This record gives sequence, structure tokens and C-alpha cells, in this order.
Amino acid sequence: MTDGGRRPLVVGNWKMHLGEAAAGDLLDRLRADGLGAARAEVGVAPTFPLLRMAVDRLGGSGIRVGVQNHHFEDQGAFTGEVSPRTVAEIGASFAILGHSERRHGLGESDDVVARKVAAARRHGLTPVVCVGETETERLEGRTRDVVGRQILAVAPAAGPGTVLAYEPVWAIGTGRTATLAQIAEMHAAIRRFLSETLGTDAAKATRILYGGSVNAGNAEPILRLDDVDGALVGGASLDPAAFGTIVRGA
Ligand code: PGA
Repeated sequence: MTDGGRRPLVVGNWKMHLGEAAAGDLLDRLRADGLGAARAEVGVAPTFPLLRMAVDRLGGSGIRVGVQNHHFEDQGAFTGEVSPRTVAEIGASFAILGHSERRHGLGESDDVVARKVAAARRHGLTPVVCVGETETERLEGRTRDVVGRQILAVAPAAGPGTVLAYEPVWAIGTGRTATLAQIAEMHAAIRRFLSETLGTDAAKATRILYGGSVNAGNAEPILRLDDVDGALVGGASLDPAAFGTIVRGA
């Protein structure tokens, strides 16, 4: 549950799932279900080739469309990369940045994530910055240090409106959701950390989402926690009924 006037936000991260036909069906269903009129703000992040279709099919629905990544430069000799300017031109309005599957799977550093946050803001894209510890880091008692370091790295580039998503790496795609106590503790710690480093106004205004195996069955109590301002949903966002349940619970 969210206070301080923060509107809850639920983002579906489709990852590298769904071909054109399946994505089209899902988009039509989300629109028909009226998810854009929910109390919570809703967004979906398809793969790049589906971005135009998502923008077209969700136009006027109130559901935001975003991307799962983009480069930190606007243009240049970066074979295979995608420009933040281009995705903004097509109609993306937010960008998931620093997802653990990019930090850990593709070696994306804090510095690169920070540069991407700056690039997103240059083009009016809301950065949704993922932070979170690996299982080893948690077992070694380094959770707060790691998350604090990740937040500090992007702080100079992040401005008003930047969203944080706390996603413990060990809970992503594993079915092992963090316990309510673990989520509550980390969200409160992040809020305190924001207050100490950026000031109370910024801390109050920043939405902190939880991500990691959120599904229709476990979302409600998570979303009711203080300092949890929504969810970043992977697997369950591919199922319109489950995603709708999560959105309506927020
Ligand atoms: P999951 O993914 O819900 O499938 O665990 C969450 C995420 O990667 O953002």
C-alpha cells in the first residue's frame, strides 16, 4: 500500500517471450479487460520488435508501454543496440533498466545502468531501475550494501519520477518469492536510504516496486505492505487473468 500520494504501479516484463500473434492477443485482452482504468497505473514491456504494435493496440487505453532496455547513447556505431530516442519516438513511455538478467547475465555494470538512466530521462522515458542482491550476497549479509551501492550509482542521473524495483535476484523466475518480512524490511530500508541520501521529499515521492515471482496468489499481501508501491511482474504478466488480478490488488 502506498502513501504520500504515490500511485501504485504494476509493470509487466514480458522478457523474451511471445511472438507477434500471441502478443497481439494479450494486448487486445488487456485492453478489453479495462486494465488501464484501474486505480493502479499499469505498464507492459514487450520485446523491441513488438513495441510499435503494443503502442498502436494500447493507444488511448491508459496502459503504458515501455521497453526492457535501451542503449545509453542516442545513436552511433553500436551494432545490435537500440536507441532510447527511437523507442521514445515510437511511443514507449518507460524503460526497465538494470534488470538482474542484464546485470548478471550480460555483465551490465552500475556505471552502464546509470548512463542508461540519464539517457532515458533525456528522452522523457520513466526509468524503472532494478536493484537487488544475489543469494550469495544475502547469505553473506551484504544485501543492504549491494542495494545501497546500486541506488547510489544511479542517484546522480535519476530525477523526479524515477521508479525503483527491488528484485532479489534469487526470487526472480524461481517461484521463490521473498517472505513478507523480507520484503517489508528491504522496502523500509530503501525508503530510509533514499531519505538519508536524497532527502525526505525525494524519498516520499519515489515509487518502490517489488519484483520476484509475484503471481495472482501472492500479490495482494505484498502490495498491502507499507513502502511497497506496486510490482514488477515477469511470468505472471503473460497470463491476462493473473496480471489483471495483480493489477486490481494494487
Ligand atoms: P518473475 O520476474 O515475476 O518471473 O519472477 C520478475 C522480473 O524479472 O522482473
